[in-house]
Amino acid sequence: TRTIDLAVIPGDGIGPEVVAEGLKVLDTVLAGSGVTVNRTELDLGASRWHATGETLTDADLATIREHDAILLGAIGDPGVPSGVLERGLLLKLRFELDHYVNLRPSRLFPGVASPLAEPGEVDFVVVREGTEGPYVGNGGAIRVGTPHEVANEVSVNTAYGVERVVRDAFARAQARPRRKLTLVHKHNVLVHAGHLWRRTVEAVGAEYPEVSVDYTHVDAATIYLVTDPGRFDVVVTDNLFGDIITDLAAAVTGGIGLAASGNVNPDRTAPSMFEPVHGSAPDIAGTGKADPTATVLSVALLLEHLGLAEEAERVSSAVAADIAERGGGPRSTTEVGDALAARVSG
Ligand code: IPM
Ligand code: MN
Repeated sequence: TRTIDLAVIPGDGIGPEVVAEGLKVLDTVLAGSGVTVNRTELDLGASRWHATGETLTDADLATIREHDAILLGAIGDPGVPSGVLERGLLLKLRFELDHYVNLRPSRLFPGVASPLAEPGEVDFVVVREGTEGPYVGNGGAIRVGTPHEVANEVSVNTAYGVERVVRDAFARAQARPRRKLTLVHKHNVLVHAGHLWRRTVEAVGAEYPEVSVDYTHVDAATIYLVTDPGRFDVVVTDNLFGDIITDLAAAVTGGIGLAASGNVNPDRTAPSMFEPVHGSAPDIAGTGKADPTATVLSVALLLEHLGLAEEAERVSSAVAADIAERGGGPRSTTEVGDALAARVSG
């Protein structure tokens, strides 16, 4: 038997609702497998901040580090100033735990209504860099609030940081049937960072002769995501471009209710964190309308990361089957969770 120590961060808004369903499916798929899950629930997010002014303390981080993986619901609340929880909690977790691979698969499941008339087959994964770029907070402002204000947000791209995420992306491309890697950047304008990314892809690519390499400027990538999403297999890109194109990718493949992600530390020096791409959706919190599918698919990524490939496959197959047979009226959060749990059991 094996024990998985799981840190659970339900967070804000619909976070706790979708996490409950994710855990339901996790427990069900592992029932009788000999793998047990030890859960530690952490009170992090808006309510903690309101009560204590804390976002993520050193003690919280030390606790989290003792776990094998993290499941996170959503962070964000209209009652907290913009940036406080994002920077102080979510991004701090990604940076401190060195989640340099922000893995965001986009797959159009049969039966899903895409806003595209003829989407074709869509199955790609965006490897978004997770610890650098404009997200690091390298910037500042002077003369704030005056007509002469200057506000800088510097994108940080290190040879070390770019190489390690590009290596991860190539390894993923090599393992997929189509073996194609697309670098998305904007090297015609962002010449410093862009050329570092380009040179790195070229150098690492030499070690992967079977992977075909493609390049697309980020603006053109948004066109292709709508006109020809089937062209993508593995996309590697920086933190901000990756943030933007994965929302578009989610919209194209059936909406943010289905988009899963992993904040992965491939070197396993700290636990990786799995979360739906969507936010806390305060407008529908408590209504039972949130779709827990993205969280359940994030649980599949978590299982895969922990080496439980067969269980991961059962979870994603359950989602695929559930989607294929959807119809009738809308279902509640728990109805979807129950249906998925029923499919993975036994
Ligand atoms: C995401 C979110 C976050 C990001 C925000 C909430 C900081 O949009 O996970 O994509 O920009 O990375
Ligand atoms: Mn985002």
